[in-house]
Amino acid sequence: VTDTEQHLRQAVIDTALAMNAQGINQGKSGNVSVRLASAEGEPRFLITPTAIAYDRLRAQDIVAMHGMTPTQPAPRPSSEWRFHLDIYRARPEVAAVVHTHAAFATSLACLARGIPAFHYMVAMAGGNDIRCAPYATFGTQTLSDYALAALAGRQACLLAQHGMIAVGRSLSAALALAVEVEALARMYWQALQIGEPKILPDEEMARVLEKMADYRG
Ligand code: 13P
Repeated sequence: VTDTEQHLRQAVIDTALAMNAQGINQGKSGNVSVRLASAEGEPRFLITPTAIAYDRLRAQDIVAMHGMTPTQPAPRPSSEWRFHLDIYRARPEVAAVVHTHAAFATSLACLARGIPAFHYMVAMAGGNDIRCAPYATFGTQTLSDYALAALAGRQACLLAQHGMIAVGRSLSAALALAVEVEALARMYWQALQIGEPKILPDEEMARVLEKMADYRG
């Protein structure tokens, strides 16, 4: 294990702990991964193990994957390793993936509702909406396929009856986006309590996206 990998194992644990501390996840739900350098072939990445409380995680519990194969016998990788792998396969710019069961984002996802451009910060996810992928059983290839389609041209999506995914160029960027998506879901939900929020037109969102391009990362 190189110094960089050791550092990234701890960064994965810190990100998982931060999801719960920042109120965007609870218990053992959710999972986190980070890409490791690989010269060619299948992506290599580190991912949280399945069903271990984050405050009990030690650096050696974080699972190193090479494509579909864990490079250590135990513990087992997150049950959601498929969508983490498929995101790294399809999106070379993505270096980290955060999956949470954030309460407001998941509430909208339970209604199969994505987040439209009710607020300009929706553009932080890369476009003029944050889509909601259809429901499929956790850990399945079908869920992964739906998630990748909902993430097309975006850095975040909701998952019906499940939660959300945020991706980024670093663990901190993916975590910050997950926090932002949850804040937007909460604002959208609150606005819906008292009326029908106005949706910004596509031309305005195009302007916002252009202005944001410099710092979205
Ligand atoms: P894991 O503990 O296997 O990562 O599963 C939690 C989860 O969020 C499934 O969607």
